[in-house]
Amino acid sequence: MGSISKKCVGLIFGGKSNEHFVSITSAQAIFRALNSKQNKKFFNLKTFYISREGKWFSHERSILILKNKLNIKEFELEETYKPKNLIEILNVKEIDVWFPILHGFNGEDGTIQGLLKFTQKPFISSGILGSAICMDKITSKLLFANLKIPQVNYLPLQNYDPNNTNELQNIIKKVNAKLNFPLFIKPSNSGSSLGISKINNIKELPIALKKAWEIDKRIIIEEGLNVRELECGIIGKNNLHPSEVGEVECKSEWYDYESKYELENKLTIPALIDKNIRDQIQTFAIEGCKALNVEVFARVDFFLEKGTNKIYLNEINTIPGFTDKSMFPLLWKPLGLDIDQLVAKLINIVIES
Ligand SMILES: Nc1ncnc2c1ncn2[C@@H]1O[C@H](COP(=O)(O)OP(=O)(O)O)[C@@H](O)[C@H]1O
Ligand SMILES: [Mg+2]
Repeated sequence: MGSISKKCVGLIFGGKSNEHFVSITSAQAIFRALNSKQNKKFFNLKTFYISREGKWFSHERSILILKNKLNIKEFELEETYKPKNLIEILNVKEIDVWFPILHGFNGEDGTIQGLLKFTQKPFISSGILGSAICMDKITSKLLFANLKIPQVNYLPLQNYDPNNTNELQNIIKKVNAKLNFPLFIKPSNSGSSLGISKINNIKELPIALKKAWEIDKRIIIEEGLNVRELECGIIGKNNLHPSEVGEVECKSEWYDYESKYELENKLTIPALIDKNIRDQIQTFAIEGCKALNVEVFARVDFFLEKGTNKIYLNEINTIPGFTDKSMFPLLWKPLGLDIDQLVAKLINIVIES
């Protein structure tokens, strides 16, 4: 019997974004999955760590982080390392498929996707366009609106200037005419809830706008609803398939930066919802991904308004958290895919297409 020709996966992790440590934990989970008894027969691995300063490291150094043999601080202090230059790294001949498990800026926004396109090897992620659109809340919302996918009421600010008092007065008028309090003020391009404020009256608006503006001049003002938070995964290339729908509950009032990373959140999979709500969420998840050119894998986040049971699409995350405890991998378990099988499936989806 001839030996199976193994596919080599280039796992890129870390990165300059504020989600650096989540990326490492996600990469460790994928590393374990690729080393499962079954997957080892089919896949080899090369790893590429990007430090918080944006330096790339060779496989030999990067793997130590995934094996927990070197902590990040020691790594960054080490003086002997010789980071290879980017072109050299990306020219690695043996890579068959890239897996950039980089959350947030530079990873989820089309940047790394553009770079990987040059290597002419497939990658496990949406392409440049879908990735970039999903990072921008204003653009995403305009496209969802086109398809009449339900969204909370919002007001986009394209180029906010915090020093222009006339502009502020105009915004206040529009807010009063269009939206009900409480409001969520968000930078259009962000993530992890950074720069987001919840405000209960108009007096709080200037400070909230300033906070968002520090991250992005494009800002979105949204009507805040009393909601349950439901999430649905998708995988596929030409045909997208939805996962089970899950619910995330956090201890704080809303899912802010601290509650995303510091507290244990409660995940319920499948979410305790009516079948018709589940069906609609799965349908909107697929429609939303198609509208924004999202493929391979993603997590689509919804609000279910308490009381009315109305569904609203909130956002699509194109490189969702992939740790053992993350919603995305857990959403596939009821469909018979554990994390090992899910990782193998994602690789095969991009290799075969
Ligand atoms: N319109 C809204 N109504 C109620 N809660 C909201 C609303 N917008 C945001 N939130 C809360 O804020 C969190 C972060 O908002 P989100 O738009 O998902 O930003 P990010 O892209 O940073 O995750 C949500 O998970 C939810 O808890
Ligand atoms: Mg979110």
